[in-house]
Amino acid sequence: MRILVLGSGAREHAIVLALRREHVGHELYAAPGNAGIAQETELVTLDPVDPAAVADFAIRNNIELVVIGPEAPLVAGVADALRTRGIPVFGPGKAAAALEGSKTFAKRIMDEAGVPTGRAVRSGSLAEVEAALDEFGAPYVVKADGLAAGKGVLVTGERDAAIAHATHWLQHGSVLIEEFLDGQEVSLFLLSDGTTVIPLSPAQDYKRLGDGDTGPNTGGMGAYSPLPWLDERFGSESAFVDEVIETIALPTVRRLADEDTPFIGLLYCGLILTDTGIRVIEFNARFGDPETQVVLPRLVTPLSGLLLAAANGELGGVARPQFSRDACVTVVLASENYPDAPITGRQITGLAAAEAVPGVTIAHAATAHSNAVHAGAVQNADELVATGGRVLSVVATGADFGEARSRAYEALAQIGLEGGQFRSDIAARVVESTP
Ligand code: AMP
Ligand code: GLY
Repeated sequence: MRILVLGSGAREHAIVLALRREHVGHELYAAPGNAGIAQETELVTLDPVDPAAVADFAIRNNIELVVIGPEAPLVAGVADALRTRGIPVFGPGKAAAALEGSKTFAKRIMDEAGVPTGRAVRSGSLAEVEAALDEFGAPYVVKADGLAAGKGVLVTGERDAAIAHATHWLQHGSVLIEEFLDGQEVSLFLLSDGTTVIPLSPAQDYKRLGDGDTGPNTGGMGAYSPLPWLDERFGSESAFVDEVIETIALPTVRRLADEDTPFIGLLYCGLILTDTGIRVIEFNARFGDPETQVVLPRLVTPLSGLLLAAANGELGGVARPQFSRDACVTVVLASENYPDAPITGRQITGLAAAEAVPGVTIAHAATAHSNAVHAGAVQNADELVATGGRVLSVVATGADFGEARSRAYEALAQIGLEGGQFRSDIAARVVESTP
């Protein structure tokens, strides 16, 4: 199949690797891609947030499926432009992507669909913020209303910090003050064709920068899949997944269809398992990063068939995808000073040695060859350099979590990046609890 993947992160590299693994003969294109994606696909010079440019390219090149990785092209209306011109696309249109782009919209849909979520108050002024903080009490949860690249949420016990965060984001629009929810977090991805959903296997993400869930929120510093502890709590993974489908995913997809904004693409349910039940903390309109890096390596069913069936409204006849029983762990390597102001341009070494560890692959994110970045500015031509905050994901599979985790950290130890940061506790607790 001729497939175009939009995006440049480790998530998109993981998608491309899954497509390559299912069928070496696929003709894959990526825009803008990165140095790792370039090893598997042809990189296309194309602005991924320009709807007409993407549609023109797809038509000129007989693309049979476009897979949209990040949120920005969705919010820019790229999927709408492709659909209008009859090109199968995995990713919702602009209106349905507001499920991620606007927390106010997401709350309204959940409210109308009867989907369980935290109570929230939208505040447009500092006075409203203060009143809402006092109503809910500590710990305080403050969320920017629009897209904030994973940096819009602050959970804090300090009222002053909550007010400072709200003051910052009020300059960009309104903020939501939300009830604090306590419990394990789960990311569950569902493919949706607008009416039918089919689930992938759940994963857990580590959102905070530092070990022991300390430091600022990030885009995600690591993940693992599956979640063995779901079995104890729900009897089985599929019992948990069924509950999410019945109480959350299907009501949401139906509500969006009723509003003539069908959701075709990946419904990412960010969930907290509280003592009183499953609650949605956020929806995203795309695959999660880094969860995709641990979900797709376990997928046995060919990915392209699933994405195409969703794009074409044909999930009704599709069986639930199969996943291997392998344990999968990913650890993200980030640049110094991520997430505030990452230092870029530094050389990355040791990837071949890292990938020589059994079960390990590297999903590239912010990587480029130095001669492609600034010809002349870097002394050694063609070094691999870091170009952003989250640089790469080390992905390791193993027969159990002990094996997957030790392989991931063994591989990381081979990689050089001055000032590089990573968490050392990814999947540590799951190893302790599953001997
Ligand atoms: P979000 O960007 O909405 O996923 O939020 C980022 C992180 O903040 C989540 O993964 C949670 O760890 C935390 N968080 C968000 N909302 C809440 C909430 N209502 N209660 C507790 N923690 C939350
Ligand atoms: N890992 C969180 C996200 O993709 O939003």
